[in-house]
Amino acid sequence: MSLTEPLKSANVPDESELQLAENGELRHLLTMRGLSREQITELLDRSQKFVSEPGQPAARSRALKGRTVANLFFEPSTRTRASFDLAAQRLGADVLNLDVNTSSRKKGESILDMIYTLEAMQVDVFVVRDADSGIPGHIARHANNYVSILNAGESDVAHPTQALLDMLTIRQHKGRIEGLTVAIVGDIAHSRVARSASEALVTLGVGELRLISPPALAPMPQTVPAEAKILHNLEDGLRDADVVMALRIQRERIDNLDGIPGIDEYFATYGISHARMKLAARDAIVMHPGPMNRGIEIESKLADSTSSVITRQVSNGVAVRMAVLSTVINTLDAR
Ligand code: NCD
Repeated sequence: MSLTEPLKSANVPDESELQLAENGELRHLLTMRGLSREQITELLDRSQKFVSEPGQPAARSRALKGRTVANLFFEPSTRTRASFDLAAQRLGADVLNLDVNTSSRKKGESILDMIYTLEAMQVDVFVVRDADSGIPGHIARHANNYVSILNAGESDVAHPTQALLDMLTIRQHKGRIEGLTVAIVGDIAHSRVARSASEALVTLGVGELRLISPPALAPMPQTVPAEAKILHNLEDGLRDADVVMALRIQRERIDNLDGIPGIDEYFATYGISHARMKLAARDAIVMHPGPMNRGIEIESKLADSTSSVITRQVSNGVAVRMAVLSTVINTLDAR
């Protein structure tokens, strides 16, 4: 398979076609699947232009002046929501943060009626997070052709802007994705972060992708790229890794906790620590999408160490969302 050929997983609805406009430009961002190496690289290059050094004023532009962005978060979020909010504001957009606990969706209004209502108020971009799979795609399928939908976290299926910020962070520290050994450790089964990152990593030519978890939290093989190695032994998984990404156990998505290790057992068997990082490459970086449970999936002092790029990921999140927002607005403008 050519490395630039789009990936397709078996049991996830294929939204990759839906996200491109007729001219091939990005209209919605729903999934990493179907995006080519060139398209991802272009988004990362554009994101890099919005990165500013810590302590410096944040990058700004007027690319979204006169536009309105609505954040519809039907699931809790701190950093992703704040990041989209700041990204839109720094591009000059009006931003609407809907309080979904009191909104009409809880009163039984269909999500499409809510979208049509907001479209009537001239909202241009909808940023959607939902616990159910298929919601961002469903909205994209039914929305008018003058709006754009951005997936900000969809069940355990996709989190494309997180994947982009992870790729940008790896590229900044390692200079490339191609040929690297990347270990993602934790609750892979329930992680949209692991899924979208895996898809992006494979498209960008990762050398070896290892998905490491307790057996009860392993992914169904058809939900991750065929290139990924599914492992259960942390020591084997960390050996010579260039990048180690720790994930939280997503208890809110687990009905039956049988077979899921308790906190102490989890840290002893799968926790990422300084001692364990000795197995990885000497200049390996440690990542975490947050929210982080110190002392469970990651040793607290490792999270604060020089090998940790966790706060860099957060900064890059704003830059990536600025890049995605300005890209889709260009596509809408070109209609
Ligand atoms: C992740 C998410 O919501 O999928 N967090 C994030 O967006 N930064 C990961 C998680 O909740 O564990």
